[in-house]
Amino acid sequence: MTQQPASHLVIAVDGPAASGKGTIARALARRYGLPHLDTGKLYRATGLAVRLSGGRPEDADRAAAAARTLDPALLDDPELMSSENAQAASIVSAHPAVRAALFEVQRAFAGQPGGAVLDGRDIGTVIAPDASAKLFVTASPLVRAQRRHTELVRSGDPRDLATVLADIEARDARDSGRSTAPLVQAADAALLDTTELAIDAAVQRAIALVELAMSPDGQQQV
Ligand code: C5P
Repeated sequence: MTQQPASHLVIAVDGPAASGKGTIARALARRYGLPHLDTGKLYRATGLAVRLSGGRPEDADRAAAAARTLDPALLDDPELMSSENAQAASIVSAHPAVRAALFEVQRAFAGQPGGAVLDGRDIGTVIAPDASAKLFVTASPLVRAQRRHTELVRSGDPRDLATVLADIEARDARDSGRSTAPLVQAADAALLDTTELAIDAAVQRAIALVELAMSPDGQQQV
């Protein structure tokens, strides 16, 4: 059931790849009648723009220029969600100038009337530090790799589980180890470990945590 949004409700959902954060964020957006932004797509589109122009994601100037002039059509490109492009996204996202270029569009999305749900890596720490509710969604690397592997098999990608796990661990290390806006649980974010949870149960738990965060004494308890 969709609930009427509070006057300005911002929900920040952060976590590593394949933790379930995207599915949870979309479900929360439906539940509270809020718009949703998958911020990973902005970094993926930046990585893709660099690749399509023959550049290397390690080139900070080129990546920043791509981020400043993003073509929205790239957000629907079939290559956006590929494993190769995920690595490119992870590399471009470590450049401070790329993060700076993508900051305003995310802030504006969070600041729109009524609020929004955003998912990513630094929503609760950098983009919306004053969010009404913050979740940090995680799961063991093996379970995340199994989930991503199942998706890839369905889409016809023959990559084996060990390769998918190695890709996820490489991305985790890069996202957590970078100096600008690393992947880290905000001090006031509620931890949601989905390792042992089916997606429906994870969504129910996420709703309960958001309700708790919005309750008068919730911020102390979460
Ligand atoms: O969430 P998704 O896996 O699509 O993100 C792709 C990459 O974009 C991540 O591995 C991460 O490096 C980067 N990212 C980020 N900050 C965000 C969202 C994504 O650095 N807010």
